[in-house]
Amino acid sequence: MKFLGIVLCGALLAIHAKSAQAVCGYESCHATKSNMVNIHLVPHSHDDVGWLKTVDQYYYGHKNNIQHAGVQYIIDTVISELIKDPARRFIQVETSFFAKWWDEQSETVRAIVKKLVNEGRLQFTNGAWSMNDEAAVNYQSVIDQFTVGLKFLDDTFGVCGRPRVGWQIDPFGHSREQASLYAQMGYDGEFFSRMDHNDKGRRMNDLALEMVWDASESLGDVKLFTGLLYTFYWDTPGFCFDVHCNDDPIIDGDSYDNNVKSRVDGFIAYAAQVAEKFRTNHIMIPMGGDFQYEDAEVNFKNMDKLIKYVNERQASGSKYNIFYSTPGCYLNSVHKSVQSYPNKTLDFFPYGSDTNSFWTGYYTSRPTQKRFEREGNHILQVAKQLSAFAELSSPQQKEDLEYLRQIMGVMQHHDAITGTEKQAVSDDYDRLLYDAIVGGVNTARDALRKLTNLPNGEFESCLQLNISECAFTKDSADNVVVTLYNPLAHTTSQYVRVPVKNEIYQVTDEKGRVVASELVPVPWQVLALEFRNNDTQHELVFKASVNKIASYYINKVDKQQNTTKVLSKKPANAEEHSLKDKAETYDGEETVVQTSLIKLVIDNKTGLLKRVEMNGVSENIDQSYGIYRTYDSGAYVFRQYNQGDFVIQEDGVEFTFYDGALVKEVHQQFNEFISQVIRIYEDKNFVEFEWLVGPIPVEEDFGTEVVTVFSSEISSSGVFYTDSNGREMIRREKDKREDFDPELAKQPTSGNYYPITSRIALQDSNKRIALLNDRAQGGSSMKDGQLELMLHRRLVRDDGYGVGEALNELKYGQPMVARGKVYLILNDADESTSVEREAEKEFHLPLWKFFSQNSGSSSSAAKSVPSFEDFPQSVHLLTLEPFNDDEVLLRVENFKDHIEGNVVSFNIRPIFDYLNGLEIRETTLDGNLPLSDLKRFKFHAEGSGPVATEAEYYTSAHKPLSANETQDASEFAVTLYPMQIRTFIIKIQ
Ligand SMILES: *[C@@H]1O[C@H](CO)[C@@H](O)[C@H](O)[C@H]1NC(C)=O
Ligand SMILES: *[C@@H]1O[C@H](CO)[C@@H](O)[C@H](O)[C@H]1NC(C)=O
Ligand SMILES: [Zn+2]
Repeated sequence: MKFLGIVLCGALLAIHAKSAQAVCGYESCHATKSNMVNIHLVPHSHDDVGWLKTVDQYYYGHKNNIQHAGVQYIIDTVISELIKDPARRFIQVETSFFAKWWDEQSETVRAIVKKLVNEGRLQFTNGAWSMNDEAAVNYQSVIDQFTVGLKFLDDTFGVCGRPRVGWQIDPFGHSREQASLYAQMGYDGEFFSRMDHNDKGRRMNDLALEMVWDASESLGDVKLFTGLLYTFYWDTPGFCFDVHCNDDPIIDGDSYDNNVKSRVDGFIAYAAQVAEKFRTNHIMIPMGGDFQYEDAEVNFKNMDKLIKYVNERQASGSKYNIFYSTPGCYLNSVHKSVQSYPNKTLDFFPYGSDTNSFWTGYYTSRPTQKRFEREGNHILQVAKQLSAFAELSSPQQKEDLEYLRQIMGVMQHHDAITGTEKQAVSDDYDRLLYDAIVGGVNTARDALRKLTNLPNGEFESCLQLNISECAFTKDSADNVVVTLYNPLAHTTSQYVRVPVKNEIYQVTDEKGRVVASELVPVPWQVLALEFRNNDTQHELVFKASVNKIASYYINKVDKQQNTTKVLSKKPANAEEHSLKDKAETYDGEETVVQTSLIKLVIDNKTGLLKRVEMNGVSENIDQSYGIYRTYDSGAYVFRQYNQGDFVIQEDGVEFTFYDGALVKEVHQQFNEFISQVIRIYEDKNFVEFEWLVGPIPVEEDFGTEVVTVFSSEISSSGVFYTDSNGREMIRREKDKREDFDPELAKQPTSGNYYPITSRIALQDSNKRIALLNDRAQGGSSMKDGQLELMLHRRLVRDDGYGVGEALNELKYGQPMVARGKVYLILNDADESTSVEREAEKEFHLPLWKFFSQNSGSSSSAAKSVPSFEDFPQSVHLLTLEPFNDDEVLLRVENFKDHIEGNVVSFNIRPIFDYLNGLEIRETTLDGNLPLSDLKRFKFHAEGSGPVATEAEYYTSAHKPLSANETQDASEFAVTLYPMQIRTFIIKIQ
């Protein structure tokens, strides 16, 4: 842009001429007046990292016929407006867009932007790669995407680029874990704008729009100031000066249209209304909205006038003082005003925008994309760890890993993992993530060539194992090596399944010992998928035990040795599957499916599971599928039309039982689009339900939403438990909320739905059942003893929140089919829920399988991989990754909560030595701020003792670890309280 260039050159001189003692952060905030209502005017733009248009279409301003939006121009024009007047302010939120823009700038422009940042005129706020969703995300991926965004800002701008407040203005409900993570990253507070309408109404009356969120039941210091914006994040009604709006500009010239008086009157009236609802004499008025400021001059010119004329009235007694500000500066003023705030302990789910609209459909929308995102995280963790061990350093390897980190950041966006984007945008996310995963897989391969004795191994990953398909084994699995990588700290034993032809194979371990294995037929419903390559129709199953890396060798053999072929009681047959035929082939009333740990009973008449025995507990558990027939549901909202339109299938299920020595499987067919495998493995203490749903037929005008339902006789009295982003559990009570009475008459089910990112459970004094899942889903307990999870949705109508399309995913020319797993654990209510935690880690980060031809191993000694076996059992290797060129980031977590676990201590010197460490320092959770520099705002919660007389702060509750190689091993001792995470940067040789 020519115009920009000219302005910038002139301004650069002006900026250089200014004093050298520029300050950023809170010191750069404009002065306020203690005897007035201080109006913090906050210019901002909400730039979705994909929604109606793809990420790049938004950045470049492409396809403006879909939505007029071009982020590059927003940043261009904002910068040129900021330099015109040092009083002006702007916040930059989404680091993914900013980083792309920064890459394209000249050194001259960069110098100007640095100045603006150093003077607090451009303030990064939130600063993560994207503004992540809070319902469907896993905490590991949230931490990662903040690490990527904050690292970019730190590398580029240093401490002045570090955001101090969270800005989650658009996500559709808010999790407690997000607040906890903010606190652990050193944020001073967070702001958002969506909350149940009844909750907001009550908070307005009680001056409770701002609160202190006690964001953890286990961790002491993670309390976070949280504020709800008075109106939505869009402009003050009537005062949108953006080119996208039609509100009146401020006309102050000698004109018949001069409107200064009426505009200022109107604005002050609005400010007075806002001021009534807040506890201090500061209010924040955001000025902006989706993709605003593309022609920032229009916005700033009018805001300049607004400020001028509102303040001019002070001369005649007005008590309103207005100035450019930021969320950080507003929060700083609030903090200095020392006040008390109500506390908050649970979360803000579900989000009900009116009595008929609970935003609970997006917990499940686009189920395959939600699963694909988890695959992305899985390979990201594998590639990170392997890169650090193998010290990969080629530009390509670093670029591939960084790209995967960034795309995973994009996937966390509140219109990506939520499934609330247009179909074309969803397809683009798939494309981005697929490319990024390929890079991650290549990185892992390069590392494995150095870390194993297969220097030329292919280390192929099969991304379609979920439909029992693998290109590497489709012709033959003879002479194939399966190399397994365990991203967890502790040795794990898991069953591995390899798609193979119906041939006899032998599996051996690295020491040449034969490992028991067996062949299992793939369900005919999977074989019938037209898009599936049909070369292999069986899976070879064996149990692997892996510390970090282990290889297993598969060879074809002539006759069966330790391989047992599973025989079905009655072979599955696509032609013949009526219940009556089946039931008569079984003796008696029931079929018992049993391993040494678990007994399942199938009712031969209905074809359904009816009893489970495990962990010394026996419970009648019926499991089936239910269908909600909905009318007005959309990508965001799950909305029943008629409460009667919900049917759970009670019988008519055909099944076949495969009774193997290692694995028992019951293959069930529920209807023409729902089938399932119930599976138990020898020695494993959970029951697996692998569901296959689709293509869902659409019935006339109605949508179809499919749930899996587990009904027990446990008297749960309306209480159930759901996880918060895969970490701490939150107690739910049917029809109740923490702070208000919800209106559930119109949507009793949707209004009781919660996001299930990893686990839902219920119990009574004797027994407990927990369901764990493999991707985010919506779930609830609508009856005592009953749990449900929504698996798939096919809808016919848009729900009116902007996406403008019905959620009706087509793949391969037909309605999309989805497959996934739900795991059941039944236990004594007195037993610790630790087993659920451990299982959850295993399901989230299972063994990653790499396939190679066995071309003979090399004699050259491979580089060793460290063992984390000395970590206490409750310690999770949350992150291990290359950070800067000579640095590695290590993050460890005590993943048991205060009820399940204890304080644990261990020593990380062996890991430090393995990595050739020189120095180690401890940082905040995101890895970018030395923990010794942590100083964040503390606010007083009502009912927690006397209010202090001056502003208070939190600093690190423990002495940050800091040591170098010459120091004694005792300096490397790490203590972790339940749920505590600690982050270290290790400088290496
Ligand atoms: C794959 O092969 C199996 C067994 O021969 C058959 O039943 C199934 O229909 C085939 N699938 C397709 C899509 O042709
Ligand atoms: C929250 O506030 C209530 C009411 O003032 C008080 O009883 C309770 O102890 C507070 N809880 C916390 C965790 O501060
Ligand atoms: Zn948004």
